[in-house]
Amino acid sequence: MVELHDQTFRDAHQSILATRMRTEDMLPIAEKMDEIGFWSMEVWGGATFDVPIRFLNEDPWERLRKLKKAMPNTKLQMLERAMNIVAYWNFPDEIVKKFIHLAKKNGCDYFRIFDALNDLRNMETPIKAVIEEGAHAQGCVSYTISPVHTIERYVDDLLTLEKWGCQSVCIKDMAGMISPRYADGIIRGYKEAGGKVPIDLHSHYTSGMTGMSFWAACEAGVDILDTSMSPISGGTGGVPTESVVAALQGTKYDTGYDLHKLIEIRKYFIEIWHKYRHLIRQEAMKVDPSVMVHQIPGGMLSNLVSQLEMQGASDKFYEVLDETARVREEMGYPPLVTPTSQVVGVQSVMNVLFGRYKKIPKETIDYCKGMYGKSPGPIKPEIMEKVLGPNWKDEVITCRPADLVEKNMWDVRKKELAEKAPGIDMTDENIMTYTLFPEVGLKFLTGEAVPEFTSDQLPLNKDHPMTRAMVKSFLPELPDIYIETEPPEARQVAGPAPIPTEFNVEVDGDFFEVKVEPTGGFITAAAGAGDVPCATGGPDPNAPGMQKTGCQGNLWKLKVEVGDKVKKGDVVAILEVMKMESNIESDFDGEVKEIFVNEGDMVQSGDVMMKIE
Ligand code: CO
Repeated sequence: MVELHDQTFRDAHQSILATRMRTEDMLPIAEKMDEIGFWSMEVWGGATFDVPIRFLNEDPWERLRKLKKAMPNTKLQMLERAMNIVAYWNFPDEIVKKFIHLAKKNGCDYFRIFDALNDLRNMETPIKAVIEEGAHAQGCVSYTISPVHTIERYVDDLLTLEKWGCQSVCIKDMAGMISPRYADGIIRGYKEAGGKVPIDLHSHYTSGMTGMSFWAACEAGVDILDTSMSPISGGTGGVPTESVVAALQGTKYDTGYDLHKLIEIRKYFIEIWHKYRHLIRQEAMKVDPSVMVHQIPGGMLSNLVSQLEMQGASDKFYEVLDETARVREEMGYPPLVTPTSQVVGVQSVMNVLFGRYKKIPKETIDYCKGMYGKSPGPIKPEIMEKVLGPNWKDEVITCRPADLVEKNMWDVRKKELAEKAPGIDMTDENIMTYTLFPEVGLKFLTGEAVPEFTSDQLPLNKDHPMTRAMVKSFLPELPDIYIETEPPEARQVAGPAPIPTEFNVEVDGDFFEVKVEPTGGFITAAAGAGDVPCATGGPDPNAPGMQKTGCQGNLWKLKVEVGDKVKKGDVVAILEVMKMESNIESDFDGEVKEIFVNEGDMVQSGDVMMKIE
């Protein structure tokens, strides 16, 4: 018998509905789902913590408690990103342990733990914490294809996870690339090497061959397969639950689940799908076997496209695809999953736009230092030298990255929260929300978060709190989905019509907020002066000594003040480009005479930042 691990309430909608399914959509069907007898249901973790507080004005802890109450017979699972928990950076051990304690307390039974680099050192603390809490730890290996990712290595890692006390293990194929041969190889290899705990295969439909891989997995002895209800599966989503149940009926792998009940449940999710139809992207629903060649997951592809568009270099797309493969190899073949997909992707874009390793974001430096963990294969020495300098060997850390993060984080955050949000309920859950997401979490906790619209609410009244640009980022093909409540003439009096200024770029449910705003700086013709209200009387960007930006991004830090002396090559500012830090180096020797931009400004490629004489 094979059992199924249903993903409908977590990975399914994270993959194809931008993680937007709400608690109110889950509860009405929860009781029926609870009757099926799934091995477990993944309902929490991943992006389902971030999205509810960011976009839905929903408390993720409350969701977990409500689901637990509605599904008392089913084990509820969460996806835990090792030392990153449910965020995108490392936390100290104390926070990881506390989080797991709270998750268990609020209703989580099983914890699926993975690390992007398969650096098992990053997984040890959460695994131990889960076992100490008396919960079920499922240890994962992130699946990718490369010369260093051999079947033997995967089997070894799975056996280590079992040895550490994991009650089940999992092959996590987040890009949907696993072939029947590899599914068979790893599962059979694990069993033949004496692996005893149940083995689970997680995959997506992306390559189009996952059904075959599932069958191969069954024949190799897989215990659990990950599926999601059919209306929210396929494409970059998962494999349909009903189809797998039907396929295995009458075989020795029969799940024994009631197919009629599942078809009833299916009807419910068809309705839910309609509520979010504006989020469905056609490309995400298509099978794309090219993932087997370039290995770039769907979410990362769309990220690359939007980065190139913003830099005005869409024609470089195929060049970037080739460069991504090259950079990944040079960096020791990291699996392309958050956060390594961003490191490799942004470096590749920068290499194509500015020359190979001419611009190096801080994240590439961190990666090469080992701040994300140990790379699967060695990073090429010539790359290490380019990124970290001639003494690169001294720069590399040998300890576990989380050993270097701030201590006493809990007490510090607790104090901060009490100061910033006096009067809020200081529960451990609220403090944890703030600790994980200080900015978004604070907005949520202080009641400033606004629930996003659903398809049924379109078109939106123009007074709706969602900005026009945010709506448009979902529905670029529609000219205007707002109801105009005032005549166009009236709007003209108020000033020029706003251009889209904000974009949410989402990659597999991870968020990049990109704001494009007139900064009051001096926007050059190349940045589209025709559309943007420019400040008048600005300096001539072609005058001598005008320090310009190299690319579009958010001005994170100014490193100089008026009166400072700088040399050519000195870092004068740090730009944040798609969540990555990028240094802006002075083009001149001289003294900073005037600074035209402020920290926090959005700058366009070629904007004048300061005058150096
Ligand atoms: Co997945």
